[in-house]
Amino acid sequence: MNVDVRQRSLRDADAALVVVGLFEGGSLPAEVADAPGAGDAKGSFKTMTRLYPGAPERLVVVGLGERDALDAEKLRVLAALVAAEATKLEASSLAWALPPAEDEGAAAEAIVTGTILGSYRFDRFKGQDDEDAPTARLSSLTLLGPAELAGAAETARVYSEAANRARDLQETPANFARPEDLAKRAEEIAAGNDKVTVEVLDGDAIRAKGLGGLAAVTQGGPVDPRLIVLRYAGGGDGPTLGLVGKGVTFDTGGIVLKPGAGMQEMKFDMSGASAVLEATAAIAELGLPIDLITVVPSTENMPSGTAVKPGDVITQYNGKTVEVNNTDAEGRLILADALAYAIELGAERVVDIATLTGAVLIALGSTYAAVVSNDDELAGELTAAGEESGELVWRLPLHDEYRAMMKGTVADLSNLAKKREAGSITAASFLEEFVDDTPWAHIDIAGTAWDVNRAYTGKGGSGYGVRLLVQLARDLA
Ligand code: BES
Ligand code: MN
Ligand code: ZN
Repeated sequence: MNVDVRQRSLRDADAALVVVGLFEGGSLPAEVADAPGAGDAKGSFKTMTRLYPGAPERLVVVGLGERDALDAEKLRVLAALVAAEATKLEASSLAWALPPAEDEGAAAEAIVTGTILGSYRFDRFKGQDDEDAPTARLSSLTLLGPAELAGAAETARVYSEAANRARDLQETPANFARPEDLAKRAEEIAAGNDKVTVEVLDGDAIRAKGLGGLAAVTQGGPVDPRLIVLRYAGGGDGPTLGLVGKGVTFDTGGIVLKPGAGMQEMKFDMSGASAVLEATAAIAELGLPIDLITVVPSTENMPSGTAVKPGDVITQYNGKTVEVNNTDAEGRLILADALAYAIELGAERVVDIATLTGAVLIALGSTYAAVVSNDDELAGELTAAGEESGELVWRLPLHDEYRAMMKGTVADLSNLAKKREAGSITAASFLEEFVDDTPWAHIDIAGTAWDVNRAYTGKGGSGYGVRLLVQLARDLA
C-alpha cells in the first residue's frame, strides 16, 4: 500500500474516496456540511454515511462515537471498516482526514494499520473467476494531516505490511510452507538488508549438534527440518534480544494422533515462526537500534513407524533428559532446544512465541495472548507493548508447584504434566528449565494466531505478534 501524509482540504484530497470522522454530537467540517444528505450523517461509533458533495466527488462520514472514548483500537477498527467500504465502492485510493487526537502519531499509526490489515486477502490459490475477488484493490492511503506525521505513518506501513506477510506464511498450506520454505523466507529477509545475516541447519546438522527435541519431533516424517537463525545488528547499547518462534509446519499430534475434525487448522502451528521472521524483517527495515537473534525451529509432527513414541527418552540441547509422554506436546520440545541455542548464541533476554496449548484458548479466548515470564521487567515491557500495539497479553504466574508437575519418572523432565489443569502454565514451566537465569518471556498465541474476528483481522491468520514484537523493540531500543 502506498501511504502518505498531506495537509490538504477535503475538496483537494484527490482520492477515489474521502473519509471524514464525526463525533457523537459533533459537526462536520464546513466544507462538506452543506452537502445534500449531510444532516443524516451520524456520529455513533461505526455508522457510515455516503455523501456526494461534488468536491470531493465522493465522501464517507464515519461515526467516531464519544469524543472521550476514541482510542487507537477504535481507530484500527474504523479504518478496517472504511477499507471494506472502499472495496465495495471499487475505490483504489483513500484519503482519511485525521481526527483530532491527543496523540496524533498514535492515531495516524492506527489508521494506517487498520487500513492495511483490513484490506488483506489471501488469494494465492484462487482462480481467475473467483466471485469473491474484489474488482479493484485499495492501493493508496493519504492521511490528511500535518506533515510531521509522515514518520509515524511510514513506521505503521512497515510493520503492518510485515504482519500481512506473516499472514501469508500462516495461510500457506503445509505442502507449500515446509521448513525449507520458512528458511527460504529467512534467506530473502537477510538478502534484503545489509545488517541481517542468516544461518540454516538441516536435519543432519540438527542431529549432529544434539538438538534432540527437534530431532525427535521430526523423526516421524520424511520432510527435512530446519533450525533457522537470523541476526540483526542494529546497534544501540541495550542487551541483545532473542526471539524464538515455534515453526511446526503441520501438527498431526504424532503417534498421539489428533482427531480429524479441524485438523487442517494445524497448518497454523508455525504462527510463532511467521511472527518472529516478519517482525525481524520489519525491525531491520525500520533500522531500530537494537541487536536481535531470531531462532526458528521448524518441522512437521507426523506419526509413522519411525516416529517418537510415548515414553521415549530424549536428550535436549542443554543436556537435560525428557520423557516424551505425549507426542502432541511437541512444541515445547523444539522450543526447549531453540531457547538454549539462542542463549548460547548470545541472546541476553529472550522472548518465545508459540501456538503452544489449546488451554490458553479456554483461559483467555482470542482477546489476549498469555505471557509467562521469569522477569517482571520484561513482562511489564510486553504488557505495555501489547496495550500500545493492540496485540494484548495477560500475564499468568510461574510457581514451584507447576514446575514440580513437569518432573519425569525415569528422566529429568516429562513433556506432559501430571495433571491437565493449568496446561498453559505447566507448558511454560517446562520451557523455564531451558533458560537458566536469562530474562525470558513466553507468549502462548494458540488463541490469537487465527480466527480472531476483529474488524481488521477477520478469519484466518491474524499475523499476531509482529506488531507486538516491533513495538517491544521500539520501546527497548
Ligand atoms: N499445536 C498444539 C496447540 C494448539 C491446539 C494450538 C489447538 C491451537 C489450537 C500443541 O502442539 C498441542 O497439541 N498441545 C497440546 C498439549 C497437550 C498434549 C499437553 C494441547 O494443547 O492439547
Ligand atoms: Mn501438538
Ligand atoms: Zn503443536
